Amino acid sequence: MSRIALVTGGSRGIGEAISKALKAEGYTVAATYAGNDEKAAAFTEATGIKTYKWNVADYAASKEGIAKVEEDLGPIDVVVANAGITRDAPFHKMTPEQWNDVIDTNLTGVFNTVHPIWPGMRERGFGRIIVISSINGQKGQFAQVNYAATKAGDLGIVKSLAQEGAAKGITANAICPGYIATEMVMAVPEKVREKIIGMIPAGRLGEPEEIARCVTFLASDDASFINGSTISANGAQFFA
Ligand code: CAA
Ligand code: NAP
Repeated sequence: MSRIALVTGGSRGIGEAISKALKAEGYTVAATYAGNDEKAAAFTEATGIKTYKWNVADYAASKEGIAKVEEDLGPIDVVVANAGITRDAPFHKMTPEQWNDVIDTNLTGVFNTVHPIWPGMRERGFGRIIVISSINGQKGQFAQVNYAATKAGDLGIVKSLAQEGAAKGITANAICPGYIATEMVMAVPEKVREKIIGMIPAGRLGEPEEIARCVTFLASDDASFINGSTISANGAQFFA
C-alpha cells in the first residue's frame, strides 16, 4: 500500500513541486491551501492530487481538515509543513499585525499541522515530519524580523521533535531553501531581487523542484537515520 503524504500549501510554489514529486515517488498525496481556489482547482485538474482548504493558523480547522484527509485517504505517514507567508517591513515600520500574521501562519501553523498527526504516528511506529524553514531563519534578513523568527523557530521544533520521535520510528527534519523562483520571491521589488541574485554564488534563483528532491529524500526509507537535521539548499549563498 502506498504511504500517505500531507503537504500544506501544496497547491502552488514550492509546495506544488513537493506534491508532484511525492506523487511521482508513489505516495498518495493530499495538498492543502488557504484561499486561492482557482489555482487549487487547476492543480487538481492537472495532477489528480486532492486539495483541501483550511487556514494552518487555526488549530480547530487544522484538526478537522486532517481528520477529513485521514478519513478519505488513510493515516498520514509523511507531513510536509510548507505553508508560509511574508509580511516584510523594516522593524521600525513593522506592525503588530504583520508580526502576528507571520507567527500565526509560519510558526503556530507548524504546531497546528503536526500536533493532530503526531499521536497516530507514535501509535503506528512510523512517521516523517519535514518542515520548510528558510535561509533567512539561519542568517536573519533585513525587513524580516517576523519571518526570520518563525523560520529559526522551525529549526527548534524539528530538533525537539526528533528527540521525542526517534524511539517511535519518527524522524523530523528541516529544509532551509535559499531564494527560490516562486510568487513569494517575485513579490520582492525587482531592483531588490536583482541585488539578492547578485549575492547568490550560483548566479540564479533556485527552482522549486530542487527543494522537492530534498523532501522526497528525507521522506524515504534511505533517510531513516537522519533526524533533527537541516538540509540547506541555497546555491552557496550561506553556510550555517
Ligand atoms: N540591507 C540593508 N539595508 C537595506 C536592505 C538590506 N538588505 N534592504 C533595504 N535596505 C535599506 C534601503 O537601502 C533604504 O535605505 P535608505 O532609507 O537609506 O534609502 C531602506 O532600507 C529602505 O527603507 P524603506 O523605508 O524604503 O523600506 P520600505 O518600507 O519601502 O521596505 C522592503 C522595503 C520591504 C525592505 C523591500 O526592500 C524588500 O522587500 N526587501 C526584500 C526583503 C527580503 O529579502 N525578503 C525576502 C522575501 S522572499 C522570502 O522570504 C523567501 C525566503 O525564505 C528566502
Ligand atoms: P507561495 O508560492 O507564496 O505559496 C504559498 C502556499 O502556502 C500556497 O499554497 C498558499 O495557499 C499556502 N498558504 C499560505 N498561507 C496559508 C495558510 N494560512 N493556511 C494554509 N495554506 C497557506 O510560497 P513558496 O515560495 O512556495 O513558499 C513555500 C514555503 O517555503 C514557505 O514556508 C516559505 O516560507 C518557504 N520558503 C520559500 C522560499 C522562496 O524563496 N520562495 C525560500 C525559503 C523558504 P493559497 O494558494 O491558497 O494562497
